[in-house]
Amino acid sequence: MRVVLFMAQTLNGFVAHHSGETPWSDATWQDRYELAKRFPAIIVGRTTYELMSEFDEFSKLGNPLVIVLSSASGSVDESTIFVTSPQEAITQLKGRDITQALLGGGAATNTAFLEAGLVDEIILDIEPQLFGHGIPFLKHEAPSMQLELLGCEQRGQNVRVRYKTIKEQFLDSNID
Ligand SMILES: NC(=O)c1ccc[n+]([C@@H]2O[C@H](COP(=O)([O-])OP(=O)(O)OC[C@H]3O[C@@H](n4cnc5c(N)ncnc54)[C@H](OP(=O)(O)O)[C@@H]3O)[C@@H](O)[C@H]2O)c1
Repeated sequence: MRVVLFMAQTLNGFVAHHSGETPWSDATWQDRYELAKRFPAIIVGRTTYELMSEFDEFSKLGNPLVIVLSSASGSVDESTIFVTSPQEAITQLKGRDITQALLGGGAATNTAFLEAGLVDEIILDIEPQLFGHGIPFLKHEAPSMQLELLGCEQRGQNVRVRYKTIKEQFLDSNID
């Protein structure tokens, strides 16, 4: 299973204004859809799910399987499944022979997956913006970890950076 966390954020690390607004340009949104469309499944937190549903975002991604992390479980329909833990999300994907998924935020969900050691890659689109306040990429309780840079590229006014997580460090920290 390959889980790729993909987010757009300001240069100072916010993925949205406090209001939840994500004022990225149309070109940025289009570019993000293109990458997301390559994945058969997307995992999002319940808050992000509601925002994306409101703006019909899943159809713009080609209607992938949607896994929603929430304290409530159950299926909305065949293509939308609520799960109560990151591990259950992976079990649901494996049960459908899906081998890769995009992890699409928000902060709480990203943090839960990193804490569980279930993120393989992180792709960040850095927007040329600073927010004074907002929702951070990760919550405070996110684990400290070393990453390996896989690449970076300029895309219009944005910079896309790609990192691999180093899973061995979880084993090392368990030994201490
Ligand atoms: N810039 C970007 O690329 C980007 C992408 C996505 C989202 N965003 C922004 O991120 C914001 C939302 O982020 P967020 O951190 O507030 O919310 P979130 O991660 O989208 O959703 C939070 C909800 O997920 C569930 N959850 C989280 N961790 C869980 C765990 N360990 N176990 C069970 N359920 C868990 C809970 O749902 P229940 O309350 O149902 O229990 C929680 O209330 C929005 O403003 C959105 O615009 C930005």
